[in-house]
Amino acid sequence: MKLTSRSVSRAALVSSVLATVTLSAGLLVATSANAATTLGASAAQSGRYFGTAVAANKLSDSTYVGILNREFDMVTAENEMKIDATEPNQNQFTFGNADRIVNHARAQGMRVRGHTLAWHSQQPGWMQNMEGTALRSAMLNHVTKVAQYYAGKIYAWDVVNEAFEDGSSGARRNSNLQRTGNDWIEAAFRAARAADPAAKLCYNDYNTDDWTHAKTQAVYRMVQDFKTRGVPIDCVGLQSHFNAQSPVPSNYQTTLQNFANLGVDVQITELDIEGSGTTQAANYERVTKACLAVTRCTGITVWGIRDTDSWRSYGTPLLFDGSGNKKPAYTAVLDALNSVGGTTTTTTTTTSNDPVPGGCTATASVNAWNGGFVVTVKVTAGAAAIRGWTVTLALPSGSTVTNSWNATRNGNQWSNVAYNGNLTAGQATEFGFQGTGSAGSPSPTCTAS
Ligand code: XIL
Repeated sequence: MKLTSRSVSRAALVSSVLATVTLSAGLLVATSANAATTLGASAAQSGRYFGTAVAANKLSDSTYVGILNREFDMVTAENEMKIDATEPNQNQFTFGNADRIVNHARAQGMRVRGHTLAWHSQQPGWMQNMEGTALRSAMLNHVTKVAQYYAGKIYAWDVVNEAFEDGSSGARRNSNLQRTGNDWIEAAFRAARAADPAAKLCYNDYNTDDWTHAKTQAVYRMVQDFKTRGVPIDCVGLQSHFNAQSPVPSNYQTTLQNFANLGVDVQITELDIEGSGTTQAANYERVTKACLAVTRCTGITVWGIRDTDSWRSYGTPLLFDGSGNKKPAYTAVLDALNSVGGTTTTTTTTTSNDPVPGGCTATASVNAWNGGFVVTVKVTAGAAAIRGWTVTLALPSGSTVTNSWNATRNGNQWSNVAYNGNLTAGQATEFGFQGTGSAGSPSPTCTAS
């Protein structure tokens, strides 16, 4: 989470609607009703994110960046983390454009989806010409080096993208990677887990939206097999590029739910729906509501900001028009996101148990819904600079933390990671975690070092 117009407007809303009760000295609890005016804030009400694909060369476009910073809290590099961009020559890695996107996102407190480590497409020339054991080790080297470089900064990796054939075969796509052996996908996942243990690892594909399609079934069986055999996989991404030839299927929610039932998160990763007006808006609403109806559908990413930014701009498939105005589809998504959600509770403790002069304080904000929660914790240095922090926050028994960001977790303690431990006097940083069960009304304590 970040301190932007989004959180500020949410905070303003909270203070205007809520009843504030002082429980004891230094502990403040506040509860708010739901409503939010941006995609990110409205998705956050149910613990979800709302993301977009970003192109590095558009980060100098002020309209583009204005919408990005206002509306979104997850970012996917549209092309900049692909294999041809990050390893143009074998074993020579270039991260300049990807870093521009990751740095922008992190400076704004947005999370990042890594896209993609292993794919038959957008391979650099040297890889396109490779086969067999040489390609297998080059692929694993790529997965390892890129995931290591960004380790700790990525919410989820699309470890493998588009590995299945279209049509009725249910077969793997015949690619140079597939020809290295059928176990190439699990090998990629194992390498990614070793390189970046904190990230969620996803399989991502298109035409996997209709539950009855052979391709959907084939991906489902692979994920089921991985879960059975302990191959590390945490999530399935449905790209969800829709148009008249490939409409939103009537069983879309069933597909999301069935994948989730395998014990993985599901995410809509590249959503765009060609069309305009109320028809397009209705389709966007259906997709959004399908995600909201599935507890483990943890977020939606649209594949670009304005129609003119789209890889299929002719289909005007996005939420903002070429001038950056909100389309009916935008309003439909926002309203759908606002139609569900939990209750936001903010707990502030001003006590600190701390050996360092100045110390630190922690504030927890809980977004709870039936069966789950997201806790966002703000850590603020006291009157002196600190070099590290640990927040202790006890959850009710029976609750389980499923995912943390911007901190390292050890039981009920969360400590700074490399980039957010150094705080100047009075400076604040935020980390968060998501879980199942209830977060209760936590009273965090902060210890500085
Ligand atoms: C697309 C980009 O949007 C284009 O700019 C590029 O020319 C081709 O790739 N599935 C994916 C994405 O996983 O990486 C693709 O992105 C769209 C389809």
